Amino acid sequence: MAQPERNSILPTLAWSLAILLAMGIFFGLLVGPALTKGGAGTAHGYLPPQAPTDLTEFDAVKGRQAPGINLGQAVAGDPALKTWAKDEYGKICVACHGPAGKGDGPAGLALQARNFTLNEAWKNGPKLTQIFQTLSKGLPPKMPAYDTYTPAQRLALAHVVQGFMAFPKPAASAAEVAAMDAEFSLSAGVRDPGRVSVSVAAQRVAQESQATSLNVEALPADLRHLVRHAAKAGQTLVGLKGLSGANWTAALHAGAPANGFSPAVGALGGADWQRLNAALAVATQAGTSTN
Ligand code: HEC
Repeated sequence: MAQPERNSILPTLAWSLAILLAMGIFFGLLVGPALTKGGAGTAHGYLPPQAPTDLTEFDAVKGRQAPGINLGQAVAGDPALKTWAKDEYGKICVACHGPAGKGDGPAGLALQARNFTLNEAWKNGPKLTQIFQTLSKGLPPKMPAYDTYTPAQRLALAHVVQGFMAFPKPAASAAEVAAMDAEFSLSAGVRDPGRVSVSVAAQRVAQESQATSLNVEALPADLRHLVRHAAKAGQTLVGLKGLSGANWTAALHAGAPANGFSPAVGALGGADWQRLNAALAVATQAGTSTN
């Protein structure tokens, strides 16, 4: 009697496994990518909405060999940058660190921005070399990196920070200064790779994606209504390149209409899906060659 009972458990186990597997595939293919996409937009979510400065916007800089800085002068406090640094602090840092460096700027309280007057809670530390580290790399996720300033400007800002200290300014040793010089190639100078602001970069990506835009005219007339937004649809197809057959169909349908396709794709029969798939391949190439 025990024999048939044991046998009847096997199919149940097999089905459970199959269902688990199907859920895994569904999550991996559809839900997972959707989640990461949603998350990408909140990368700077820690910045309060009224943050006065948009850290992603700055003038484009062409790549060049930056000359080395006069390290001794910058560490002692470059008189030529003193006024600039004070003004810059008053424009940028003040929002979080406050006018007297107490961490009480309008955006600083909620973020618990460092109070520069006290000798406590420092993570990198209050030495000039340590503040330079903080400005160069930031303290993720709340304190942004300010590496768009030149090294000499960052050191001048570090002096402003030290100016707020209501405790004896700790001095960096010669070895610490030398280590900073080596790490950031300060006196030797660095090759600046050049940079563009986020909005310019986004514009370029958009232009490039135009190149993969769909040529809707190249589709059979009865399928054209399935494309709502040619550029988005073109991008979607690039993203779906690794998929085939039922996976491709399911992903395309699941992403509509945000992916540039009409939800009406859900009503297509198997043969029409194949026609659409083939026509899209042609239309994407037609779109590329016209750009
Ligand atoms: C958007 C708000 C914000 C702005 C703007 C900002 N900071 Fe900060 N800063 C923070 C926060 C928050 C911390 C504390 C981070 C932590 O504890 O992880 C911090 C910490 C620091 C520290 C201490 C690092 C340590 O060792 O603990 C220094 C130095 C500093 N900021 C300098 C500056 C300077 C100089 C500027 C302007 C160029 C500036 N910050 C602009 C938010 C900001």
